[in-house]
Amino acid sequence: MGFVVAVDGPAGSGKGTITKRIAEEMKLTSIDTGAMYRSVTLAMLEKNIKVEELDKIKNLLDQIKIEFKKSGNEQKIYLNDKDVSIEIRSKEVNENVSQVSAIDIVRSKMVELQRIIAQNIDVIMEGRDIGTNVFPNADVKIYLDATPEERARRRFKQNEENGINIPFEEILENVKQRDFIDSTRKNAPLKKAEDAIYIDSSNMTIEEVVNEIKQIIIQKKQ
Ligand code: DC
Repeated sequence: MGFVVAVDGPAGSGKGTITKRIAEEMKLTSIDTGAMYRSVTLAMLEKNIKVEELDKIKNLLDQIKIEFKKSGNEQKIYLNDKDVSIEIRSKEVNENVSQVSAIDIVRSKMVELQRIIAQNIDVIMEGRDIGTNVFPNADVKIYLDATPEERARRRFKQNEENGINIPFEEILENVKQRDFIDSTRKNAPLKKAEDAIYIDSSNMTIEEVVNEIKQIIIQKKQ
């Protein structure tokens, strides 16, 4: 196992942006585990498989191929050899991903894949259960938080930049709903690992958060 930095936190806490920046600056491979749950959700939507249809889900998981590939500075996610990096951010996926990621067999398959990915490389892995469940012995554990309103504001801005038009109130409602499902599910709910460092980014710039985490990693490596 290489060096592992686990970054957990709710939707819109800035994990994605911050993880990618730190990965570039510190020569780590960034792994967005939410994108993996989103890919499974997309595959289920495409095949019209419902969350109760466990046999069909099991079949799907046996055949599914999820890979990360670097394209320039960007990391793309491939579902069965197709680049789905944009599709997994759709409204339909947003509305279904929490339910899909609460399914036990989906989680165990994704956790297995996440552990395989990190076998021989140094990673910064972001998600909800990385420090608590996937890598309980991670070298560095961060729990990144922000208020629901601030997180919804960030998503709204991000969407605007990508030409996606979803009203702020709808985003805020979706953020709160996902917080509730993610933190109350039975299997590996979203919560801070006891030994994780808590960072509230509500009033911090990206730069400030990146620098704080970089210092923590540097200290740990010394
Ligand atoms: O980070 P994100 O919004 O792209 O994550 C999408 C969903 O995936 C989120 O609602 C919870 C789930 N998820 C999870 O259950 N465990 C992870 N390690 C990562 C994401």
